[in-house]
Amino acid sequence: HTYVIIMAGGVGTRFWPFSRTSYPKQFHDVLGTGRTLLQQTADRFNGVCPPENIFIVTSSLYKDLCQQQLPQLTDDQVLCEPIARNTAPCIAYACYKIAQHDPEANIIVAPADHIILKEEEFQRTILTALEATKNQDILVTLGIQPSRPDTGYGYIQYIPEPDQANTKQHPLRVKTFTEKPHLELAQQFVESGEFVWNAGIFVWNVQSIISAFKKYLPEVAEIFDEGKEDYYTVSEAAFIDKAYSLTKSISIDNGIMEKAENVFVVLSDFGWSDLGTWKSLYEVSDKNDDFNVIDGHVLLYDTKNCIIKTPKDRLVAINGLDGFIVAEYDNVLMICRKEDEQKVKAFVADAKERG
Ligand code: GDD
Ligand code: MG
Repeated sequence: HTYVIIMAGGVGTRFWPFSRTSYPKQFHDVLGTGRTLLQQTADRFNGVCPPENIFIVTSSLYKDLCQQQLPQLTDDQVLCEPIARNTAPCIAYACYKIAQHDPEANIIVAPADHIILKEEEFQRTILTALEATKNQDILVTLGIQPSRPDTGYGYIQYIPEPDQANTKQHPLRVKTFTEKPHLELAQQFVESGEFVWNAGIFVWNVQSIISAFKKYLPEVAEIFDEGKEDYYTVSEAAFIDKAYSLTKSISIDNGIMEKAENVFVVLSDFGWSDLGTWKSLYEVSDKNDDFNVIDGHVLLYDTKNCIIKTPKDRLVAINGLDGFIVAEYDNVLMICRKEDEQKVKAFVADAKERG
């Protein structure tokens, strides 16, 4: 009864120009391993559930990309959204659909754009969570030891157990869940030592998540509940078009995880990284003696602490840069101080305006 929902509808603007609306980061081989982030995500669940129980939820714009990259999936396994409404409707769509043919489904929800270095440890953690959600009405998330007061994550305060050695074996009760706190709060959280980051990977049985939708996002639940009859089988596309035109846009974190009282966390350490930004890619990548991360055909002089990702067919010579991002993709070249990477979103907005 194990199912996987892979959320692959984000645009990843903070990773521009590498991640574009027409070709978001999850469809790139970001690490140069030969597999894209989406492919790696699907590979990760080999052996955890049968291949026919994996569903991708994405924009209809990316349906072809998903099928090219994961040819083993049938048409029915790629759920297409007509418009992006953030992660709560995305999860509702897939969970209500799965509930139709398996009311006992036990579900893992995973983002398509993360890296996980220790795959075996990841599988162990997932199995621990699945074991717990099989027969309990709880919402489980995976928690990562925070290394900095990053405001891009959710923060989970859990109730520690006296026997620390045991805490990796089962989920711990969550006291508070705070999605993307402001900096001062994030600093307090990290300093207190009582918080972990939300990895954005969730485990629950289908009944638990549907009850949570009914309780915390009833307006979303009603819309998708209406499809129960035969919409999903007769005209799924028509029903989904209508549902998305009605539903509000909200993340699962703000909509459910912050409010629910039955949230649990499995403390995890599987070499996790959300490849949300250039800096996060810099951090996880191999560096040369001058601390440069290089993916491209480059000549470097007096250059250090940079991340350089340029097309293989172009020779790039760089002199005297320290701490920069140099990224070229398609017809866009971006050169930006690593420290200023929060400005990337503004570049994207301006670039769109100019056409
Ligand atoms: N299908 C679909 N539709 N997928 C979506 C949509 C949508 O409208 N919006 C986002 N996604 C996908 C993204 O592609 C990504 O794989 C995943 O859902 C999470 O969305 P993000 O937009 O990347 O969320 P985030 O990184 O800001 O925050 C989440 O992840 C953090 C960890 O990386 C939250 O869960 C945080 O609490 C968490 O710490
Ligand atoms: Mg993310």
